[in-house]
Amino acid sequence: MTENLLTVANLSAVSDREDGVPVLRDVDLTLRPGEVRGLVGESGAGKSTIAKAILGILPRTVRITGGRIDFKGRDLLVMKPRDLRNIMGSEIALIPQDPQTALNPARRIGFQLADGLRLKRGMSAKIAEARALQLLADVQIRDPDRIMKSYPHQLSGGMRQRVLIAAAFAVDPQLVVADEPTTALDVTVQKEILRLIRRMQEAHGTGVLFVTHDLGIVAQICDSVTLLYAGKVIEEGPVRDVLETPQHNYTKALIAAGPRYDRPDAGLEPVPEAVFRELRQEIGID
Ligand SMILES: Nc1ncnc2c1ncn2[C@@H]1O[C@H](COP(=O)(O)OP(=O)(O)O)[C@@H](O)[C@H]1O
Ligand SMILES: [Mg+2]
Repeated sequence: MTENLLTVANLSAVSDREDGVPVLRDVDLTLRPGEVRGLVGESGAGKSTIAKAILGILPRTVRITGGRIDFKGRDLLVMKPRDLRNIMGSEIALIPQDPQTALNPARRIGFQLADGLRLKRGMSAKIAEARALQLLADVQIRDPDRIMKSYPHQLSGGMRQRVLIAAAFAVDPQLVVADEPTTALDVTVQKEILRLIRRMQEAHGTGVLFVTHDLGIVAQICDSVTLLYAGKVIEEGPVRDVLETPQHNYTKALIAAGPRYDRPDAGLEPVPEAVFRELRQEIGID
C-alpha cells in the first residue's frame, strides 16, 4: 500500500464571522502521490476553506475546532511556523483562482519566476533565469523570451494562468492545490488550461487537489473526487464510480443538473428541493 501524500482527518472548523456556524464537519480526504483529486461542491460548501487550511492561509475569522492535516505523515496544523514556511511554496504549491491579482503588476514575468527559484531552490540568478525560460516553454508559451520581459498587464488571462502554472510546478512540489484555476477564464481557454495542468501533473508526478464547482471538470481531469455540501463530505471515490454509480441522491441530482460530464451542452435540471431537505436533515442543519 502506498502511503498517502495528504490525509485530512476529521477536520472541523467554524466561522467566527457568522456566530460559530460550522464551516467544515469532520472532513476526511486523502491524496496519494501523483493522484488528482477533485474537491467539488456549490459555493459556500467549504472547498476554499479546506484548501486554505492545507496552505496555512485561513482567515482569522475561520477557526479549526478539530482534526488534522497530515502531509507526508506530519500534521501541518501543529507544525512550527518555520517548518511550514519551508514547505509552502516548495513542497506544496498553489495555483490561484484569479490570475489577475496573483502576479505582482510592477515586476516583469521573468523576474517573478526566477525570484521564486532563487528563494525556494537556492539557484543563482543566472541559472534561475534559464530555468524560468524553460518553464515558460514547458507551459507552451510560444515566445518565452518576450514573455520573460513582459509585465503581467501585457498578458491575457490565459497567458497569466500559464505563467502561474509554471510558477507552481517550477519548484517541483509534491502537492499542488488548485482553487478553481479556470473559473475566471473563457471556456475555450479553460479547456487548454485543464489539459496543461494535467500534462504538467503527469510529467512531474505531482499530487493535485483540484477545487471546482463543476463536475464536468472533475470528469475531465480528476482521478478521484470528494463532494462537499455545507462542509460535510457527501460522497467520495474514484471519479468513474462516483459519476457512473453515484450513491447519494444529492450526487445523482447534481449529475442530472449538469453540466453533464458526458454531454457538457445537455439541458439542465435543477436539484429538487426535496433532495436539499433530505441532505440538510441528514447533516442536521435547521
Ligand atoms: N473570511 C471568512 N471568515 C469567516 N467565515 C468565512 C470566511 N470565508 C468563508 N467563511 C465561511 O466558510 C463557508 C465556506 O466558504 P468557502 O470555503 O469559501 O466555500 P467554497 O470555496 O466552497 O465556495 C462560508 O459559507 C462562510 O460561512
Ligand atoms: Mg472557494
